[in-house]
Amino acid sequence: MNLPRRPRRLRQNSAIRKLTQETWLRKEDLIQPLFVKGGSEEPTPIPSMPGMSRLNIEDLIEKAKKLHELGLTAIALFPCTDPELKDPTGREALNVDNLACQAIRALKAELPDLLLIADVALDPYTSHGHDGILGEDGKNILNDETVEVLANMACNLAASGVDWVAPSDMMDGRVGAIRERLDDHGFTETSILAYSAKYASAYYGPFRDAVGSAQSAGTHALDKKTYQMNPANRREAVLEAALDIEEGADAVMIKPAGPYLDIIRDIREQTTLPVAAYQVSGEYAQIHAAAEQGWLDLEKTRDESLLAIRRAGADLILSYFAEAMLSDPDVRW
Ligand code: PBG
Repeated sequence: MNLPRRPRRLRQNSAIRKLTQETWLRKEDLIQPLFVKGGSEEPTPIPSMPGMSRLNIEDLIEKAKKLHELGLTAIALFPCTDPELKDPTGREALNVDNLACQAIRALKAELPDLLLIADVALDPYTSHGHDGILGEDGKNILNDETVEVLANMACNLAASGVDWVAPSDMMDGRVGAIRERLDDHGFTETSILAYSAKYASAYYGPFRDAVGSAQSAGTHALDKKTYQMNPANRREAVLEAALDIEEGADAVMIKPAGPYLDIIRDIREQTTLPVAAYQVSGEYAQIHAAAEQGWLDLEKTRDESLLAIRRAGADLILSYFAEAMLSDPDVRW
């Protein structure tokens, strides 16, 4: 054939493929989520998230040290609160000595250079597992009352030494309220990573087991549709991100990541801020489950899933695969 253009010329060997590769992962892009529990017992493995465990504070520090030595830049911390401390309003969220605040202080004392991110939402603390305060009708999640608590919670986390607070609750106006409260208390250097487009997704199931919000609610299928976004909506994500940016977000996040690549791209094109994406527990579980059956290659699928999120436009990726990626000498960064 007489073809002036033969795109396969640029695919013929690995040197050419490397030279022409458009997207790369960097170690620095990955953020490892970790689960912390109280007490001093052994790690509790999370069955639906192979390789992940709830760690006591001492083990958490050991894990964080190891990850930092491997080149990890940041971790996102999730507390697994003792069910006895949970109540309908999530009061424990404001305890300055709660598990999250203790873990942050301990980590910062040992590893001042490891960037620490903490979620701001009430679900680890509420007996019903919702991210906000449940109204008296037992249905409505009260927006403004919740925002007030979240702003104070963010201050406690900042006072404990967290670098970034990450509101993950999807209440309206929370980014602005948190920014104002942080500034009022002198925490002008604490950044806000806003979960701007967080969808009411079925992919959070394993996480809800891990932090115990499913157990409190009695179901994985906890319905958060009155505050998390409808998976069918795309324009609305752009609006949510714009509002968070106006209110003072330093970076915006899309969650889940893999099934929402179009949203990552849309938001990437709308802002000059860093864009983060959260490859959630269900995305991680799915790949592991298929690999255990021998149906998918674990490492190749893992690498491709992360590269796709990068290609869609994410600068930062929260992923439970971070540790495995950093530990694997065969990963091509
Ligand atoms: C809760 C929160 C959730 C996740 C992070 N923060 C779950 C939820 O909204 O129920 C999910 C993370 C994951 O699935 O890995 N504020």
